[in-house]
Amino acid sequence: MKLTKQEEQMLNGKMGNAVRKSMEILVALGEIYGADRLIDVASVQVAGVSYDNLGDAGLEFLADLAKDGQVKVLTTLNPAGMDLENWKVLGISEDFAKKQAQVIEAFSKMGIVTTCTCTPYLIGNLPRFGDHIAWSESSAVAFANSVLGAKTNREGGPSALAAALTGKTPNYGMHLDANRQAQITVEVKAKLRDTSEFGALGHVIGNRIKNKIPFITGVKQADIDQLKSFSASIATYGGTALYHIKGITPNKTKKPKEKITVTQEDIESALKAMNDPGDEVDFVSLGCPHASIKELRQIANLLKGKKVKVETWIATARPTKKIADTMGYTKMIEDSGAKFACDTCMVVAPLKGRFKSLVTDSAKSCFYGRSKNNFKMRVGTVEQCINAAVNGIWKH
Ligand code: F3S
Repeated sequence: MKLTKQEEQMLNGKMGNAVRKSMEILVALGEIYGADRLIDVASVQVAGVSYDNLGDAGLEFLADLAKDGQVKVLTTLNPAGMDLENWKVLGISEDFAKKQAQVIEAFSKMGIVTTCTCTPYLIGNLPRFGDHIAWSESSAVAFANSVLGAKTNREGGPSALAAALTGKTPNYGMHLDANRQAQITVEVKAKLRDTSEFGALGHVIGNRIKNKIPFITGVKQADIDQLKSFSASIATYGGTALYHIKGITPNKTKKPKEKITVTQEDIESALKAMNDPGDEVDFVSLGCPHASIKELRQIANLLKGKKVKVETWIATARPTKKIADTMGYTKMIEDSGAKFACDTCMVVAPLKGRFKSLVTDSAKSCFYGRSKNNFKMRVGTVEQCINAAVNGIWKH
């Protein structure tokens, strides 16, 4: 990989230890993937924020970089292991909270905006069409590449942080237009009404095409919330970082000859596969990916004047909740007994053993609820989820 004179100096430690370590990571990655050079990035989103995943080794790594590291571009964080302000309300232990606060402090010292969210595009980290960026969170990566038309590989925590500390990333993968063309056509012959059904679509397509890039036809309309649900689901079940939807997403692509079809029955089977038998509920979680202000309004209206019977979390970015505060939605939600889970979510928080049966509208939460926490899963519309929270029972 060809480096500029300045990049050579960065690699040789002339700009400090954090830049040297970051360059070592980026150059090693570039060599592995055959990048010709480093390119500038417009923004970064760093994953690997929860102390639950990082442990003490991760914390040490961050503290070391924070000694002289300063980010060069706008950088935000993925969700942490707790609500940074109201962790006690969510049942997080004092020991965990202390360690998580140290993690956030290290990031803050590096100049990172410590807003912890998987929907950075909703809170001001919004790249333009064609921008090269270095984002980590799989749903945000799929959304950025597909819906915004920005260009990013799915970065690991260390490589995203390295991009933040240098403002650069190796030029390979999704940064190259040749790698962004669709590889398979997916004809959708189903009516999709809500986030759970868009999640089910991602479940079906992801399972069938794995990490191929699809050109999807037959989807008449999709709003931002439905697209963020779909992005999370297709990335979880298939692993793709980019999709095209005819008439909806902005990237240009050829229509591939190889074709599969998704029917209404496929959507229903996917929803069935995500629902375990039984009707018991002890945990309801909405906001995966983090809820938008429109979703908070819907949840607030559904909860107005009611009381929840089971632990209910609404995960969102803190700036989104601030808007909800001024709109009165926060009061409507909290008066019902439901709790905000800002800066975090049910997947990255340390929840193992606390609950048995999770209700959600998110296909991605279903995957991790099963694989990480061994929950029995119920997946349905937001209305069904709120009904389950209020009645303490799941209606299939
Ligand atoms: Fe976001 Fe957590 Fe879901 S990071 S996409 S809310 S699993």
